[in-house]
Amino acid sequence: MSKPLKIGIAGLGTVGIGLINIFNRHDEIIEAKAGRAIQIKAVSARDKNANRGADLSAYQWFSNATEMAASPEIDVYVELIGGEDGIAYDSVVAALKAGKHVVTANKALLAHHGSMLAALAEQHNVALNYEAAVAGGIPIVKTMRESLTGNEVSRVYGILNGTCNYILTLMEQEGRPFDDILKDAQDEGYAEADPTTDIGGFDAAHKLALLTSLSFGTQPSFKDVYIEGIEDITSEDIAAARDLGYRIKLLGMSQMTDSGIEQRVHPAMVPKHSTIAEVSGVTNCVAVKGDFVGDVMLTGPGAGAGPTASSVMGDLIDIARGLVVPPFINPAKDLKPYKNAKTRAHQGGYYIRLDVVDQIGVLAAIATHMAEQKISLKSIVQKLEEGGNTDKEGATIVMITHATLEQSIRDALAAIQKDGHLVGKPQMIRIEQL
Ligand SMILES: NC(=O)c1ccc[n+]([C@@H]2O[C@H](COP(=O)([O-])OP(=O)(O)OC[C@H]3O[C@@H](n4cnc5c(N)ncnc54)[C@H](OP(=O)(O)O)[C@@H]3O)[C@@H](O)[C@H]2O)c1
Repeated sequence: MSKPLKIGIAGLGTVGIGLINIFNRHDEIIEAKAGRAIQIKAVSARDKNANRGADLSAYQWFSNATEMAASPEIDVYVELIGGEDGIAYDSVVAALKAGKHVVTANKALLAHHGSMLAALAEQHNVALNYEAAVAGGIPIVKTMRESLTGNEVSRVYGILNGTCNYILTLMEQEGRPFDDILKDAQDEGYAEADPTTDIGGFDAAHKLALLTSLSFGTQPSFKDVYIEGIEDITSEDIAAARDLGYRIKLLGMSQMTDSGIEQRVHPAMVPKHSTIAEVSGVTNCVAVKGDFVGDVMLTGPGAGAGPTASSVMGDLIDIARGLVVPPFINPAKDLKPYKNAKTRAHQGGYYIRLDVVDQIGVLAAIATHMAEQKISLKSIVQKLEEGGNTDKEGATIVMITHATLEQSIRDALAAIQKDGHLVGKPQMIRIEQL
C-alpha cells in the first residue's frame, strides 16, 4: 500500500468535529476504499482549551492555521473555518503555494476568489476540492465535474438554502408568520443568531455562483447574482400560493440566454405537484439540464455535521486515490469571463399582491397601468381587509399575469405606486413552471 495521506484540519466546529467523528468510526473503511490510510496529523482552531466532545490529543495543535497550512507535516489542508477573506483566504493561499492539496466547505471564499484559487491550485498541480461548499451532503460538484462532463448544460437551479426552505415550509404547514417561524428556527439551531446570510439569499447566491461556473465554464461571479431574500414573504402570499396551486420556494437559478447568463436567487412560486415543490424542510435539491442527459435532480441534506463532513471525506478519498482535476472543470486559464444576460429580460408569469386604500376606481386604475404595459392578467382578486367595507378601509388585490417581461411588471408597479393608492410596498413573486 502507498504511504498514508497526512491531513491538517483548520476549524473544529460543526463540520470539523463531524469530520473527526467519521475518521473515528470509519478508519478501516476509509483506508480500504482509498487504497491507503488517511491520517489526521494536525488541527487548528481559536480556542485550544474548548471542550469539543472529541479527543484531539493525538494531533499536533497549531494556534495559527496559516502556519499549519504550509507545514511539512501535512499533504492536505482542510479548511473548515469559513468566511470569504481573513484567515480562511490567507491559509488556503498559503497551502496552495506550499504545494498542498486543499479541501474546503467554504462557499463564500470560492464564490469571491474561485478563479484565482483555481489558477493557483493548477499552477502547483494540486487539488482544490469543495463538494461540501455546494448543498452540503449532495454530491453535485463531483456529478458535474465528472459524470455530466459530456453534456452542454443549459440550466441549473435548485433549493440551495435549508434555513429558508425550513421557514417557508413551516409558514405553509402551520400558517404562522415569518418572524415567528424564524425565531423557532433560531431556537432549534436551523438559523443563525444573525440570519441575514441565509434569509437574505446570500448563502444560496454563493452556491449558485459556483454552480454557474461548473455549468457554463465561466469564472465564478458572485457580484453578478441578482439576489432577493425571503424576508418580505407574508402569510397572505403563502396562502394565496396554496389557493392558486403553487408553493413558494427560495430558488437559485442560472441559465444560458442569447445575451449571456442569467443568475438569480429569489422566492418563486412553483406548481404544487412539481418535484421541487415536494422538497421540504431543511432538505436541498439541485437540478441540471444537459443536452444529452436531460434533466437530473439530486436531493438531500444541504447542511449539518454528518452530511457536510461526508462530502469533505469524499474529497479527501479522491485525493488519496490520486484524482486531481481542475476545480471548475475547465482549466482556470480557459474559464470565460462571466457575461450577464440583459437585466430584467426574464419572461414568465408573475404573482402580484397590492395592499391598497379601498376606494372606488383603484382597481380600474391598476388594470389600466397593467394594460399600458401590455400585461395580460390571468386572474385578479380583490379582498377586503378584515372588518373592511367598500368605502375607505384597506383592501388587498392579488393578480396573476400571463407570461410577460419582468421590466414591464416593474414599470407597471412604478406607475401604480405613483398614483398613491398603495399602502406599503407592492409584492411581486415570479412563477416558475418547473
Ligand atoms: N455547518 C454546516 O452545516 C455547513 C454546511 C456546509 C458548509 N459549511 C461551511 O463549513 C465551514 C465551517 O462551518 P461550521 O458550521 O463548521 O462553522 P463553526 O461551527 O462556526 O466552526 C468554525 C470553526 O472555525 C474556527 N476558527 C475561527 N477562526 C479561526 C482562526 N482564526 N483560526 C483557526 N480556526 C478558527 C473556530 O474555532 P473555535 O471553535 O475555537 O472558535 C471553529 O472551530 C464554513 O465555511 C461553512 O460555510 C457548513
